[in-house]
Amino acid sequence: FGRNVRVHEVVSSTQDVLRELAEEGAPEGTLVIAEQQNQGRGRMGRSWVSPAGKGIWMSLLLRPNVPLLQTPQLTLLAAVALNRAIERVTGLDIGIKWPNDLLVDGKKITGILLESAAEDERIRYVVVGMGVSVNLEASDYPEEVAAKAVSLRMACGRMLDRTELIAEILKEFEDLYAVYNASGFETIRLLWEARSINLNKPTVLTTASGRIEGIPRGISEMGALIVEMEGESMQTVYSAEINPWEK
Ligand code: BTN
Repeated sequence: FGRNVRVHEVVSSTQDVLRELAEEGAPEGTLVIAEQQNQGRGRMGRSWVSPAGKGIWMSLLLRPNVPLLQTPQLTLLAAVALNRAIERVTGLDIGIKWPNDLLVDGKKITGILLESAAEDERIRYVVVGMGVSVNLEASDYPEEVAAKAVSLRMACGRMLDRTELIAEILKEFEDLYAVYNASGFETIRLLWEARSINLNKPTVLTTASGRIEGIPRGISEMGALIVEMEGESMQTVYSAEINPWEK
């Protein structure tokens, strides 16, 4: 990874730029980085604040040879890669909020967004969008985000070198992805679970089909969250929003 890198000043979203390259046949590991995005996207249709020069706004292309159903595994892999890389550079203690938000003291420092293209239920490619709030200041955040987010600079009390962080993230990503391709999801699953802030705590999940209350107990083989419901029955959740603030 990191051999084919495109750096842009301003783009709408690095996701869109990389998707286009992917359709044109760009190789796995292709990376698009922008200084600024004016239509940065987040999960669940939200927007993502991406001011110029203050963060890492980038998208990485993967072409895994796995069924579409296994996409959640890659989501968790991305979280572990970012977690390990950022911990190494900053020394911060970083927890993962399911599926892939990285938090310091309950506040979000990064966001990950996977967008995939598939054919016959197999993945053609995945665009892994990563947003790391590196050197933002409190005043860079819109009011509604400020209470829930923090930058690495605010958390560490010093400015950080974006290039060093990018290099560590790519290295960590490449290593974990090699493990994943060679021996499957198990190692990633264990690394993820060890960093989770949600496991074994009463939790409220908002899914497309309604609200679930239960206790997340672990990650399934496919990368879904296993939630223990009242009466000890288990439910597997593929997509939802956790609100640790609610409970
Ligand atoms: C989230 O937590 O909601 C995910 C945020 C993902 C943001 C990154 S920044 C680079 C890439 N381009 C985008 O438009 N979004 C992702």
